[in-house]
Amino acid sequence: MISSIINKGFNGNPIIPGDKSISHRSIIISSISKGTSEIKNILKSDDVLNTLKAFKEMGVEIYENDNKIIVHGKGLNSLKKPNKKLYLGNSGTSARLLTGLLASQNFESVLTGDESLSSRPMKRISEPLIKMNAKINTTNGKLPIKILGTELKNADIDITIPSAQIKSGIILAALNTHGITRIIEHNISRDHTEIMLESFGANINVIKEGKKKLIEIEGKKELVSKNINVPSDLSSSAFFIVAALINDKSHIVLKNININPTRNGILVALEKMGAKISYLNKKINNNEKICDIEVKSSKLNGCELDADIAKLMIDEYPIISIAASFADSPSIFRGLSELRVKESDRLKLITNNLLKCGVNCKIVDDDLYIFPQKKYSIKDNNIQTDFDHRIAMAFTVMGSKIGPLKIDKSDSIKTSFPTFISEFNKLGGNISWKKLLLQLMVLLHQARNV
Ligand code: S3P
Repeated sequence: MISSIINKGFNGNPIIPGDKSISHRSIIISSISKGTSEIKNILKSDDVLNTLKAFKEMGVEIYENDNKIIVHGKGLNSLKKPNKKLYLGNSGTSARLLTGLLASQNFESVLTGDESLSSRPMKRISEPLIKMNAKINTTNGKLPIKILGTELKNADIDITIPSAQIKSGIILAALNTHGITRIIEHNISRDHTEIMLESFGANINVIKEGKKKLIEIEGKKELVSKNINVPSDLSSSAFFIVAALINDKSHIVLKNININPTRNGILVALEKMGAKISYLNKKINNNEKICDIEVKSSKLNGCELDADIAKLMIDEYPIISIAASFADSPSIFRGLSELRVKESDRLKLITNNLLKCGVNCKIVDDDLYIFPQKKYSIKDNNIQTDFDHRIAMAFTVMGSKIGPLKIDKSDSIKTSFPTFISEFNKLGGNISWKKLLLQLMVLLHQARNV
C-alpha cells in the first residue's frame, strides 16, 4: 500500500480495538477456569483469532454473541488433546503462553507458526519450564515445538530476560502444578496475567522489591470464571498519537485506552519530548487503569531514553523513532537488544527504513541514535517490513509527513489492527492501493506476454 502526505492534520476520534495482550489472556484464562465468561471488546485480529482457534481445537466451547465472546470453561484439566498441530500464525504471545500452559496438561501437542514466528527464539520459554520437569522438544530452539504434557514440579525460577511472555508462560504452567512456584522477575514487565488471574481467584501473590518482582503461585486451585471488558490497546493507539503530534492542525481523542503503568512507557517518553497529551475520564476496569487520551499537534524535542524504560514500551520503538525524526534535537534510545527478536529484527528495519527516508540515524551496540533534520528528501520509497505489523504502521505514519512511501507486505497489519487503514484514512490519512494495483496490472500484463 502507499501512504502519502496529508495536509489537513489528523482529526476526530479513532476507534482503537481491544488490547492484544489482554485479549489473548482473556481467552486462555477463561478457557481453564470453571464457568462461563463473557468477553466484550475482544480484539478480533489474526493473532488473537489463532489463540481462539487453538482453544476450540482443544475442545473449549467458545461462541460469539452480538459483540461478545462467550467462553465455557471447565477447569484446569479440562482441555482435550488437539487432533492437529496448533497453528499460531505470527503470534509470539500465543506461542510462549501456550507452551507454558500445555506443559502441565496430560496430553501431547505440537505448536507451529508462520515464517516469522518460526524464526523466533523459544528456548527462553522451554528452558525455565524444563527446570520444572517439563518435556518440551523445540526445533533447534524454535518452532515447531512438541510438548509432552506431564505433571510438573514446582521450582524457583529466575527470569532475567525482560519478557512478559516468558513470565506468563511460567505462571500458566504453575497454575496446574502442586506446591508453590516462585518466579523472580528481574525486570518488571507488563502484568496483565497477574492482574487477570487475581480476579479469577488464583492463589497468586506479588511482592515488588525495587526493580524486581517476586511472584508466588500456589497451583492446583481451580479458577472461577469472570466477565471481562477488554480496554482499547495503547500500542495500537500510539500510531495515531504520533500521527497527530507530528502533523500540524491535528486534534484527536482516543477512548477507553489501557494505561497500565507497566505498559505506558510511550506516554512517559512522548511527554518528555514535549507532546501535548491529556488524560481524561480516568477509571479502573477489571483492575486495569483506563482513560481517554487527547492529543494535539506539538513541537517535539529529542530525548534520551535509558534501557530501564524499554520493557515498558518495547512495542513502541518503531513509532517513537518516527516521532524522533520530527523533533528539533537528536534522540538516543538505549538498551534495545530485545527489538532484534520481535516479529522482525526491528532495530535493523527501523534504521534501514529511516535511512531510506533520508533520516540520519545509526545503531551503536544496542542503542539507536536519531538525528532529525528540518527537511527530508526520500532516497528510496520502498519500505521493507518483513511482514512486521508495527514496522508497517509506523512507516505509514512517516508517509503522512514525507510520503509517498510504498509499504511492502502491509497485510501483516491485520495481525494486530485489522481496521487500521480505514481508521487512519477516516481521520485524514492518505493510504491508497491505487498505485499498487497499477503495478500489479503491469506485472500481470508482462507475465501474459512472456
Ligand atoms: C506481550 C509481551 C511483549 C510484547 C508483545 C506482547 C505479551 O513481548 O512485545 O507484543 O502480550 O505478553 P515480550 O514479553 O517477549 O517482551
